[in-house]
Amino acid sequence: MKIAFAAPSIPGSGAYVVTAHDDGALSPAAKALDERTGGAIVRAIKAGRFKGSRGQVLEVLAPSGLGISRALVVGLGKPGDLDPLGAQAAGGAVVGRLLTSGETAVAFAVDHVEGASLSPADIAANVAYGARLRSYRFDKYHTKKKPEELPSLVKFTVVVAREAEARKAFAPLDKIADGIFLTRDLVSEPANIIYPESLAKEAKALEKLGVKVEILGEAQMAKLGMGALLGVGQGSARDSQLLVMQWNGAPRSKEGPLAFVGKGVTFDTGGISIKPAGGMEDMKWDMGGAGTVIGLMKALAGRKAKCNVVCVAGLVENMPSGTAQRPGDVVTSMSGQTIEVLNTDAEGRLVLADALWYTQGRFKPRFMIDLATLTGAIIVSLGHEYAGLFSNDDTLSERLAAAGKATGEGVWRMPMGDAYDKQINSDIADMQNIGGDRVAGSITAAQFLQRFVNGVPWVHLDIAGMAWTKKDQATVPKGGTGYGVRLLDRLVADHYEG
Ligand code: BES
Ligand code: MN
Ligand code: ZN
Repeated sequence: MKIAFAAPSIPGSGAYVVTAHDDGALSPAAKALDERTGGAIVRAIKAGRFKGSRGQVLEVLAPSGLGISRALVVGLGKPGDLDPLGAQAAGGAVVGRLLTSGETAVAFAVDHVEGASLSPADIAANVAYGARLRSYRFDKYHTKKKPEELPSLVKFTVVVAREAEARKAFAPLDKIADGIFLTRDLVSEPANIIYPESLAKEAKALEKLGVKVEILGEAQMAKLGMGALLGVGQGSARDSQLLVMQWNGAPRSKEGPLAFVGKGVTFDTGGISIKPAGGMEDMKWDMGGAGTVIGLMKALAGRKAKCNVVCVAGLVENMPSGTAQRPGDVVTSMSGQTIEVLNTDAEGRLVLADALWYTQGRFKPRFMIDLATLTGAIIVSLGHEYAGLFSNDDTLSERLAAAGKATGEGVWRMPMGDAYDKQINSDIADMQNIGGDRVAGSITAAQFLQRFVNGVPWVHLDIAGMAWTKKDQATVPKGGTGYGVRLLDRLVADHYEG
């Protein structure tokens, strides 16, 4: 779907969208449309229960007096409450309705909103952003869908005064959407297509945006002593990889880079501690953390962010086989710390242990934020509303919480502490990879990671509940969500650029 901006006018064909506010107050464009259609809009509002509240959509098919095939009125809620997320949701709602409706073009009229803090150009840019985010599809493996099941909408035009200003405001959002779409693609691909080497190759394509990409193979990782990561991959026929991406958008800066580290388990069977068959297919998206840092890199490089960022992802496949790691095996991590692997299904933390240690040692970053579909327990705690946030740094945690509110990608801070840390002490090694009893599983996982951050300001985001959605949301169609790209882009934009 193509996004465009144009000066205000009622189109001669296709769908036309106007807006209304809480008490049914029509926008200027809505009033003009009502007049041109002989009062069809007001009559339709009276006939139904449309109130103009946020997210409401009223559809009038084939109104007379004009060439358009349908008119939509979208509720924006209270004018004073209209924020970027509200505007994005409005654009998303329209696309959700029309994407496969048979309609090919839609024009969405944005007016000045009295009492809103957003300019028309900003509202327009966010409507377009929400529209684009909702238009995402992962259709490539359907070969037999009927034409009426496939998207029909090819053009979404936002009509607004000073459209050039809106186009400018949309430009960076468009680049962030590119990053989100890449993450969604990677997460949606099955594990026979996306495995460590092929995932690394996808990331390599970011070189054309000016990203420096290095890929370390098993021999190089063995030399570095990455016994924790390599142990996870040793049962797989696929070679493990360490992906290192650098964006230097602030070449004169003397500060260390910002570091983002992703769990990239391209398929998690559980290994010898094998998972039950039901639902195991979900574990194709156990590389969601890696997918997010790759998409984030694309977003930052795409919008030429003025900062230095390094993204690292540990890419492995966790399989049971004759060469697989056994429960009880002891491995030595790159940090020198030894780990008793009591459960081969607690593999993400083993991968991150070496990825985090490598990142802090090589790059001396200002902070490290890791993202991982790490525990089922975080879904028990927080459902699909927030990622679990674990940290040794209050400032960074608060900044992320604010970025979460601004982008709608929520984080919720969870406790950490010595009492939890003790639970991963092992009888035979420096630590074990699961807690002694099955309580507080997400927290003991975070305590494990903390032993590999070497005191660097750090946040761990457990995104197991966020990487995938089973139902459509305003700007996120069901499937891979791309969670984290917006959140982290915003963190960077608000605090670490220029
Ligand atoms: N990848 C899983 C966690 C997960 C579960 C992600 C459901 C998304 C949806 C992780 O590797 C795992 O298996 N964790 C175990 C840890 C346990 C063995 C301590 C879990 O959560 O059961
Ligand atoms: Mn697992
Ligand atoms: Zn896993």
